[in-house]
Amino acid sequence: MRADLPPVPALIERKRDGFPLAPGQWRALIEGYTAGRVPDYQLSALCMAVVFRGLDPAELAELTDAMLASGDRLRFDGEPRPRVDKHSTGGVGDKTSLILTPLLAAAGVVVPMMSGRGLGHTGGTLDKLEAIPGFRTNLPLADAVTQARRIGAVMLGQTEEVCPADKRLYALRDVSGTVPAIPLISASIMSKKLAEGLTALVLDVKVGSGAFIPEEVRALELARTMIGLGAARGCPVVALLTAMDRPLGVACGNALEVREALAMLRGEPCPADLVEVTLALGAEMLVAAEGGAGQGPGAGGTRRAERERRAAARARLEALIASGAALDAFRTLVAAQGGDPRVADEPEQVLPRAPVVHEVRAHAGGMICEVAPKPLGLAVVALGGGRSRVEDRIDPAVGIELRARPGDTLARGDLLATIHARTPADAEAAEAAVRAAIRYGDEVVARPLVSHRVTVEGVERL
Ligand code: URA
Repeated sequence: MRADLPPVPALIERKRDGFPLAPGQWRALIEGYTAGRVPDYQLSALCMAVVFRGLDPAELAELTDAMLASGDRLRFDGEPRPRVDKHSTGGVGDKTSLILTPLLAAAGVVVPMMSGRGLGHTGGTLDKLEAIPGFRTNLPLADAVTQARRIGAVMLGQTEEVCPADKRLYALRDVSGTVPAIPLISASIMSKKLAEGLTALVLDVKVGSGAFIPEEVRALELARTMIGLGAARGCPVVALLTAMDRPLGVACGNALEVREALAMLRGEPCPADLVEVTLALGAEMLVAAEGGAGQGPGAGGTRRAERERRAAARARLEALIASGAALDAFRTLVAAQGGDPRVADEPEQVLPRAPVVHEVRAHAGGMICEVAPKPLGLAVVALGGGRSRVEDRIDPAVGIELRARPGDTLARGDLLATIHARTPADAEAAEAAVRAAIRYGDEVVARPLVSHRVTVEGVERL
């Protein structure tokens, strides 16, 4: 039954003034928004009020459930294999989903991954996938389930069938400055993940200046909030806190990131931080698939035994990369979704390239102490790799390859970055952003890559 929708201005004012909405009102708002009865401008005002005022637990639960109920779910009745996914809270250069989906499928896990597009200064998995010519992410629900059962993996976006409320709200938040709010991020992520019919979920909660929630204490709160939403709805969740005080890997920009993800799947040399974060998340996914997700030290045995399980899982994933099985799974996934499967073997030939390739070299020598991810992410958006308005089209070819890492000691003339741009003027603007993002000094700013593991049982420092 449709919930009654009170006048929306009164609800916005109530939230603006710091009061919770009454039971049923979030449901009515989301139903109204999905049906087109509540306009974007009212929802963005309300989201901005949530950024400042938050939601209480009952409001958050109702918002999440309403977003989940806005569409259908992936149904895997009778499917004997575990279904595990991972989701990140958003970062710059984060291409781990492109690697983990085929890698876990190669390990026998079903990965029905529903992702989003670029959000604010961060990239989105859907935009990255669409850099592969022909790749379709708007699959009908039934086809998505059939494909996941057949090949063990599917990568799709929110559609009118699944999570339509998140599809619209996500795009609206992207361009209205309303991403960084723990309840909005939690409801967005968990509504998508709960619609996937998972047996377990692994979250990559980013922390550091390039994360939507930069502070460690609040990142832990975000992790706990999502773990709580999952636990209350029968989905065990494990979260890792990973560093986003510098970009992950070298490539930032859609096609460039696909190329870097493929380097890892092909067993080629690739950035050590990318390998580390990807395998840490992958090991959690594999252990979760075996029934270990959500277990803290008390529930799953000693911490030492748990670490040994994760180490064994990691070794298995490394072997699947070395044997070519993960790359085969990627090729199969791309072909199943209409993409050009030659991308797996000849990425240079298949992926789009920008007409201007511009090197940025150090003006002076010294040690790099910081590479700030947010201005770099914004520079990629300005190059055309992200959106400033809902209707903006992405240019998949543009981006920045960042060669300088915190702790590197460079000489004058050393390469800092390579910019891939549409025009020389765009490249120059991006060069200024790269130079501003890189700071020299004596004290390196770099968090541990994977710092905490959070489960329903508590927090473990790694
Ligand atoms: N990822 C999502 O899916 N939603 C958010 O709000 C942030 C990151």
